[in-house]
Amino acid sequence: MSRPPTPVLLDCDPGIDDALAIAYLVAEHLAGRIELVGVVCTAGNVGLDDTVANALAWLDLAGAPPLPVCAGAAGAIAVPHVFTPETHGPRGAGYAVLEVGTGAETATKATTGAPGMTTTTTTRRADPRDGAELWVDAARAHSGELVAIVTGPSSTLASALAAEPALPGLVGDLVVMGGTFRGHPGNTTPVSEWNVDVDPEAADAVCLAWEDANNAHARVRGPLWCGLNLTERAVWTPERSARLVAAADTSLTRALAEALRFYFEFHESVGEGYLAQVHDPFVAWLALHPDAVESVPARVRVECRGEHTRGMTVEDRRGHRGRAPSARIATDVRTPGGPSAVLDDICAAIASLAGSGSTGGPG
Ligand code: RIB
Ligand code: CA
Repeated sequence: MSRPPTPVLLDCDPGIDDALAIAYLVAEHLAGRIELVGVVCTAGNVGLDDTVANALAWLDLAGAPPLPVCAGAAGAIAVPHVFTPETHGPRGAGYAVLEVGTGAETATKATTGAPGMTTTTTTRRADPRDGAELWVDAARAHSGELVAIVTGPSSTLASALAAEPALPGLVGDLVVMGGTFRGHPGNTTPVSEWNVDVDPEAADAVCLAWEDANNAHARVRGPLWCGLNLTERAVWTPERSARLVAAADTSLTRALAEALRFYFEFHESVGEGYLAQVHDPFVAWLALHPDAVESVPARVRVECRGEHTRGMTVEDRRGHRGRAPSARIATDVRTPGGPSAVLDDICAAIASLAGSGSTGGPG
């Protein structure tokens, strides 16, 4: 008797590397290895309207089956949201030109942001529920089994926790792309990573909720924090884009290549070289391969007040203040070939969509 597919919820802020995570999870869903039960969109580098539109478009391009896509938080929960269009492009899709379905009409978004209107039969549209509702509904429907992956700010998850304080006991495994650990430098301030930096109050609320639940009930698994100390090793190159398009020349792979071209330019502009650190698909893969993750137990909280340290993920591995280490910090991946082999696996999954009848027809 084969295991039923693992139920998976993605909370993302697409976002270029988020798009790779979406495509990868759709491929895993269509291969029957997971059940992608929904996608929550949160405001991130770009605004909520764009993260929702991008998620709908990337799901269409990947040939995803119908599944709930819900708009979550429109910004950070306690401070004005700081958008960073320079990172993922003015609409969050780099140089990719996406079509977003609104039912009868489609808004074609160019990188200039100037919407054109064309008619299409695309009917994928956002579910009317709020993203926080989808978090709670999915956790209740798959109690104790749901693998929840966060690849953007924790703003919507914080709202879900406010709506359902018992959420940590309902979620089977929470895997977060966020923070930076083991003394590894931040990408937003010297000590902070962007997803946490933009909404540290939300990230700390997540830490505390899961810590309280884990201290009360040991069966509640602490979050797996996947920080820059590990995710910056997931490096996508122009050669990898070329190999992906050569392996599967579809509208999806060409759009991903165009999105990544912008990301290469961004990384080059900040001194990382003409390449892209693809944090989100890497973390999605880790979430689906828990046995391949090396991690250390720690208590994790987020600094919200420090003039120089706001947004810092503080790891306590010695149980100071008498609280048990309830979280896990990802430190390495056990797969032979390391992160590069993980990206090979992700590329193979995305390329497989070409043969799955995805709408991503020949490019
Ligand atoms: O710091 C990296 C994170 O910020 C990734 O999730 C990327 O998509 C951006 O949201
Ligand atoms: Ca992201």
